[in-house]
Amino acid sequence: MLGVNSVPVGEGVPEQVDVTAGPVPVHVHAEPGVVATVPLPVMKRPEKIAALSTMDEQEVRNCTKCVLCEGRIQTVFGEGDPDAPIMFVGEGPGQNEDEQGRPFVGRSGDLLEKQVQAMGFERSQIYIANVVKCRPPNNRTPLTGEVDACSDYLRRQIEIIRPKVIITLGGPAAKLVLGVKEGITRIRGQWHEYPGVSPAVPVMPTFHPAFLLRQYTKENRAKVWSDLKKALERVGQDSS
Ligand code: URA
Repeated sequence: MLGVNSVPVGEGVPEQVDVTAGPVPVHVHAEPGVVATVPLPVMKRPEKIAALSTMDEQEVRNCTKCVLCEGRIQTVFGEGDPDAPIMFVGEGPGQNEDEQGRPFVGRSGDLLEKQVQAMGFERSQIYIANVVKCRPPNNRTPLTGEVDACSDYLRRQIEIIRPKVIITLGGPAAKLVLGVKEGITRIRGQWHEYPGVSPAVPVMPTFHPAFLLRQYTKENRAKVWSDLKKALERVGQDSS
């Protein structure tokens, strides 16, 4: 499972936090290699935007933590609304994404956008990221060491955005985010949790749009739509 490391609790309680408001308001910044085990104060939108762009510009764009940096044209950080209720997580950039520096911009991206619209959102209203930020050679599945090297970026994106729901796309993304061994066919449609942040975020695994494009059957489309509807219900926006 992605990035559970140390627990730097007790770094000071921010003065502005209302201690009557809920769970222990210990102030822990989203630093690399650090996992919060107590709920963090939710950032305001401008803080989220600043934290995300600082991470992208100062860390991810120059990242050389694994060999994937050698083959990339550019990194693909992720994009969307920092207050998005739903965050989609794919496996890693492909050729189009590597060329454009944006996630899901090829045929899979077109299908994902249609799915997002069917859910009642525009693409700009959700957030899209990948497990790894650099394109693996020949679009192979990222290796464990590559995922480990990159995992903290995704964990911090999740921690900053605090989506109500994460939807993982495809088997590798589900396995990498959740640490499960079962294949996507077994786990899709069932609620899981991403425990790398506190409080843990509900995760709904579904098929990858590229798989759906390859096997565009009525049955597979119905399965994905059922998964997406479960996510919608969880965020309180039923599309039916
Ligand atoms: N597939 C992914 O998993 N991510 C992308 O960004 C594009 C295709």
